[in-house]
Amino acid sequence: MTTPTDAQRMEKIVSLCKRRGFIFQSSEIYGGLNGLWDYGPLGVELKRNLKNYWWRVMVHERDDVVGMDGSILMNRAVWKASGHEDTFSDPMVDCRVCKARLRADQMIEKKGVRQCPNCGSKDLTESRPFNLMFKTYVGATEDESSITYLRPETAQSIFVQFKNVLEVSRKKLPFGIAQIGKAFRNEINPRNFTFRSREFEQMELEYFCRAEEGMRLLEYWKEQRLKFYENIGIPRDTLHVKTVSDEERAFYSTGTYDIEYDFPFGRQELEGVAYRTDYDLSQHQKASGKSLEYFDEETKQRFIPHVVEPSAGVDRTVLALICEAYSEDEAPDEKGKMETRLVLRFHPRIAPIKCAVFPLLKNKEQLVAKAKEIVDLLRPHMNVFYDESGAIGRRYRRQDEIGTPFGATVDFETLGEKDASLRDTVTLRDRDSMKQERIAIQDLAAILRARIA
Ligand code: GAP
Repeated sequence: MTTPTDAQRMEKIVSLCKRRGFIFQSSEIYGGLNGLWDYGPLGVELKRNLKNYWWRVMVHERDDVVGMDGSILMNRAVWKASGHEDTFSDPMVDCRVCKARLRADQMIEKKGVRQCPNCGSKDLTESRPFNLMFKTYVGATEDESSITYLRPETAQSIFVQFKNVLEVSRKKLPFGIAQIGKAFRNEINPRNFTFRSREFEQMELEYFCRAEEGMRLLEYWKEQRLKFYENIGIPRDTLHVKTVSDEERAFYSTGTYDIEYDFPFGRQELEGVAYRTDYDLSQHQKASGKSLEYFDEETKQRFIPHVVEPSAGVDRTVLALICEAYSEDEAPDEKGKMETRLVLRFHPRIAPIKCAVFPLLKNKEQLVAKAKEIVDLLRPHMNVFYDESGAIGRRYRRQDEIGTPFGATVDFETLGEKDASLRDTVTLRDRDSMKQERIAIQDLAAILRARIA
């Protein structure tokens, strides 16, 4: 078997995503809309499993973090105070020949002369800032007074609700506020499938602390976040921590790491972990005139907390999970001849379907009835899939291709026809090793739950 080049690998991944219902182009029947994607039946399960696991680890399993869910549209004053209205932009260049609008850092340079990467022309405009926020109007009148923006990050609603959340949760520093939600950026050049989209989801934590704890907590959160990726099946050796240089870092940050992943199209950012100092809360306190200070009951001091922010992209992580899981190996077909097997090796924790249930034959009423009983038994605990059509080998392959880690087959042994001691047992097949073990139906839910936890 030849190893596909990375571009070929990416093409295969994109095509599998569409064919099996992970990700579709948005508005596809109308020709699509660049940088926008819809998640199909399997994609939405994968995405939910990822978000639920993030929430479990970042909120439920901790005493020092609470959650919130803010609105996408906010008062325009938020975006003025945060600096987004003035500075949330990418430098953009237009090619006068092919009319392409491109990010300035995507220009190719030959012998010190900039060229259009599309057509090679040197006839380019000067670079100018292009604000990435989507502008909209609130209410019936479309004028200056009704302008606001679709949020380009979820973080700002956490900052502006800091005081309310602090009061109701009665947390002491250090503590965090977590949020998962949509963000929108009018990217000049959306690309690499869902990697750079115009609408995407973020999983953000704002972890508030005293100034003197900021740098230590930056290290702490970087390590926590690396562990998170390992726990969903992205190995440590595919992740890279980039220390963002002084020039690249936001002026208010005193330390930022990018956690990068080796995608088939290159090493790219999955998540940023930034020490944002007290910049955001100070800006909002100044602009709103409302105190966003923390009162330390022990020292009787009032001060604006600092914040460390791990900010991850849901869509980028889903893409990394699919890229990491995608593999081709060999398995015997019905006649024992080796054939290429396409398999998504998702960690069972995030796999869209946890267990497929098969009656060996669909025209044997007792096998079908037993298999449906097992589906009912498992359904309250996990997402299961029942399949009775086609040869059993084909059914296994269909599940391998979508990353279902386990397959339970009801056969004649289950009915106790050959050996009474095997009555009410099934074969449980492991996707990766393709090994089968005999399991009592009454133990099945507990065994699977332990393996997908
Ligand atoms: N609150 C900080 C913040 O928004 P960011 O580095 O601009 O920081 C955080 O974004 C994460 O959001 C990125 O690491 C990435 O995973 C995701 N993200 C940002 N822009 C994206 C886009 N256009 N498409 C998909 N994901 C994006």
